Amino acid sequence: YDNSNNASYKVAHEIAALIRQKEKDEMYCVLGLATGSSPIKVYEELIRLHKEKGLSFKNVVTFNLDEYYPMEKDNVQSYYDFMHEYLFNHIDIPKDHINIPSGDTHPDKILETCIAYENKIKKYGGLDFQLLGIGRTGHIGFNEPGSHYNSRTRLITLDHLTRTDAASSFLGLENVPKRAITMGIGTVKEAKRIVLLAWGENKAEIIKKTIEGEITSQVPATYLQLHKNTTFVLDEGAASLLT
Ligand code: F6R
Repeated sequence: YDNSNNASYKVAHEIAALIRQKEKDEMYCVLGLATGSSPIKVYEELIRLHKEKGLSFKNVVTFNLDEYYPMEKDNVQSYYDFMHEYLFNHIDIPKDHINIPSGDTHPDKILETCIAYENKIKKYGGLDFQLLGIGRTGHIGFNEPGSHYNSRTRLITLDHLTRTDAASSFLGLENVPKRAITMGIGTVKEAKRIVLLAWGENKAEIIKKTIEGEITSQVPATYLQLHKNTTFVLDEGAASLLT
């Protein structure tokens, strides 16, 4: 796309069509959602469709990819806060349909809550649609280099580059959490449809490696090459190094 506005509009309308179809079929629409700067305009358009075009989220169930650990829900840096500010507070999704890995889980309970998160996704029949961004390490969710193809929801250690990229919003590297809870590659790859968003030239190098490079755990996003229904939605900057 020539710019991220047009691209985000297109993606939001694909999601809206899926929600409407599932509503007609009287089924839940199960969405995997991302935070960060990339999906913000998609969420803005979904909110507009809700407010102006009667799009209802009553049959939507969401599972977010990740959350920093440790992280309190009421911390403005939490992904819990981000999702409420940029989407959930503005739509009619029932509160108990919102699922976000919990950054304030007791350390002894992490494994158990990660398994419960996986089981809940399965209970709803799996993810119908997964929205992704990509980090400069090649992470999707917080599946950093070294992540296994079959990895599941778990506690991970963030890559130094990822923490550096987050440093300005945390007002300094020392304030960025060192760990996070993330859905695994195995979780994401079971989604029936995946759309990855990337904007700007600073994503161009990792986008080239992800799409044109060999599949490797060193660039976890390359695993998406094996998925049958994935689209990379890019602006000109992010696509600028593709051959
Ligand atoms: C966020 C997430 C991350 C981001 C990625 C890109 O939930 O899972 O993988 O999508 O770090 O972040 P932005 O969009 O801020 O460039």
